[in-house]
Amino acid sequence: MRLDKLVAELTGMTRSQAREVIVKGRVCVNGEIKKVIAEQVKEESDVLTLDGKELNFQKFAYFMLNKPAGTVSATQDKEAKTVLSLLSAEDRKRRNLFPVGRLDKDTEGLLFLTDDGMLSHQLISPRKHADKLYFARLIREITAEDITLFASGMKVDEELTAMPATLRTLTEEETVAFLPEGGFAAAVTLQEGKFHQVKRMFAATGNEVLYLKRMAMGGVTLDDTLLPGEYRELSEDEVERLRESVAEK
Ligand code: URA
Repeated sequence: MRLDKLVAELTGMTRSQAREVIVKGRVCVNGEIKKVIAEQVKEESDVLTLDGKELNFQKFAYFMLNKPAGTVSATQDKEAKTVLSLLSAEDRKRRNLFPVGRLDKDTEGLLFLTDDGMLSHQLISPRKHADKLYFARLIREITAEDITLFASGMKVDEELTAMPATLRTLTEEETVAFLPEGGFAAAVTLQEGKFHQVKRMFAATGNEVLYLKRMAMGGVTLDDTLLPGEYRELSEDEVERLRESVAEK
């Protein structure tokens, strides 16, 4: 494997951050400083260090799930079915997986499952500004004032003043896929994820969410071949995009 790729995988850095520490001479392979980013290394047997500290070869697992309604975003629950119960016995046994943030029980769509605590924490931290895109079916059409309100960082209720969010109507293509039986819908992009946030924001504008689905998060879009309840491993590119979405800009 290439040195920059392996350093990124072992540290959670983006590929460009990994290249920077390599070029600066901070990475050693088997005790020798290596400054060539494309150098080939053996991931099973070579010993890598960063600033003298050994990098451990345990790799993280990353899955995307199309969460179905009726499941809870938790590892355990006394009554309801958890998102983890949707994984195969083999995947469940292999790792200490947990969901990255929460979707409401009735919300569907993109939910990541991983054992990478650092990346998970960053993706849900409002300070990191990772975008979360939701499609919402609504009881009424959105207005220009709603769009302005969402963009302004609105006071939602006594407990919540939201960060600025983007509200828009769906494109024609999105409407065909999301609203085959007609009705009203909108797309919202948030950089935070407070309890029931999307529903509360629409409620504050006198609207109501009838159905909510997360379509994308941290630059990664829900694979539209996954039926509700299905999941797959993330590609390397997708993991890299997630890391990029939370990297210092
Ligand atoms: N906002 C909500 O209201 N519910 C969700 O599940 C996610 C965001």
